[in-house]
Amino acid sequence: MGNEQLETGTILHEGRSSMAKIRLGFIGCGGVAQQHFTGIATFEDVEMVAFSDLNAELVNRTAAQYGGQPFTRLEEMFSAVEMDAVYIILPPFAHGPAEFAALERRLPFFVEKPVGSDLGVLREIAAEVEKADLLTSVGYMTRYRQSVQTARAILRDDPAALVYGGWIGSTPRMNAPIHQWWVAKEKSGGQLVEQTTHTVDLVRYLCGEAVEVYAVTAHGFVSDIPGYTIDDASLAVVRLANGGIATFYSACCADGGGGVNLNLYARRHTLQFTGWEHSLRILEDGQVRCEVKGEPDIFRIEDRAFVAALQTGDRSTILCSYADGFRTTRLTLAANEAMATGRPVALT
Ligand SMILES: NC(=O)c1ccc[n+]([C@@H]2O[C@H](COP(=O)([O-])OP(=O)(O)OC[C@H]3O[C@@H](n4cnc5c(N)ncnc54)[C@H](O)[C@@H]3O)[C@@H](O)[C@H]2O)c1
Repeated sequence: MGNEQLETGTILHEGRSSMAKIRLGFIGCGGVAQQHFTGIATFEDVEMVAFSDLNAELVNRTAAQYGGQPFTRLEEMFSAVEMDAVYIILPPFAHGPAEFAALERRLPFFVEKPVGSDLGVLREIAAEVEKADLLTSVGYMTRYRQSVQTARAILRDDPAALVYGGWIGSTPRMNAPIHQWWVAKEKSGGQLVEQTTHTVDLVRYLCGEAVEVYAVTAHGFVSDIPGYTIDDASLAVVRLANGGIATFYSACCADGGGGVNLNLYARRHTLQFTGWEHSLRILEDGQVRCEVKGEPDIFRIEDRAFVAALQTGDRSTILCSYADGFRTTRLTLAANEAMATGRPVALT
């Protein structure tokens, strides 16, 4: 039974025989849930006890594969199966009932990013989580990367004045269930809320809070997808509390190629993250000082941190709580408001 070294330097112990297995339930068994499942299934100190999804065929298949009970109604799952925590891996528009059901039972939960798309509902959940002092984790998995931890240490002493980054992807191919809700802005919140949220979250994690956001959008380049109400591209410009400025770009119509990038410019350091895995290049005085490669199994690392916190009660292994993840989602929803109104929005 091996130990696992987190980027934070925390040693996590797997499979302690003296400890009962952590019993996990799952709400949502779609694309990214399956990525969590393959990693969690390798944890010998965890039992995957229940799965819930509206898609009966999918949930039956998943439960058969991982050994838990399948449900198509989450209330039935909670009544029938005892668990230590629940994963909530739902599209942005579907959040609310699962979190409130977990809160009612004082059940710790992990929720995939973004925490939702309805600010009123999210505020209520955040308030209830705080009141209950519930152990939570939000799936901003990039925070767990060695590259991000290295950058954070540098920026603490040498803050960035200028930041820009984002996600540029191709036109949705409509070949997976996710695309049905992804292209509808009223369901996904749009690309900034659903995808570029990772970059927004990193900038909050690396540079601190935002105080104001402006935003503009591009339309009319994609007109051949039924139900498509998202922006083809957007720019959100953010003023940070520490005096720095950040631009977040998003595009989902760049079939020639795009990518994931984040660049931060401080007085002494330039930090360049590239790719989904967020490999980092650090420059000093115009020279490359070092490079840090991104990890391929980041969901497993993030899930290990959540399980460790459940085992010990020590929340320091979790790098994004509900309150923290809520603030990232709130910033992207404020940018949506700026896109809709054409006016800057202050973050209070
Ligand atoms: N961390 C990451 O890098 C990452 C990557 C992809 C997706 N995500 C996020 O994860 C979430 C889910 O994305 P996905 O790609 O798995 O989507 P998906 O469409 O593949 O799966 C969503 C699943 O939820 C189910 N579902 C919908 N409403 C439900 C409800 N009320 N109760 C139970 N099941 C319900 C659907 O039937 C579907 O199986 C989204 O918020 C997305 O932004 C995160």
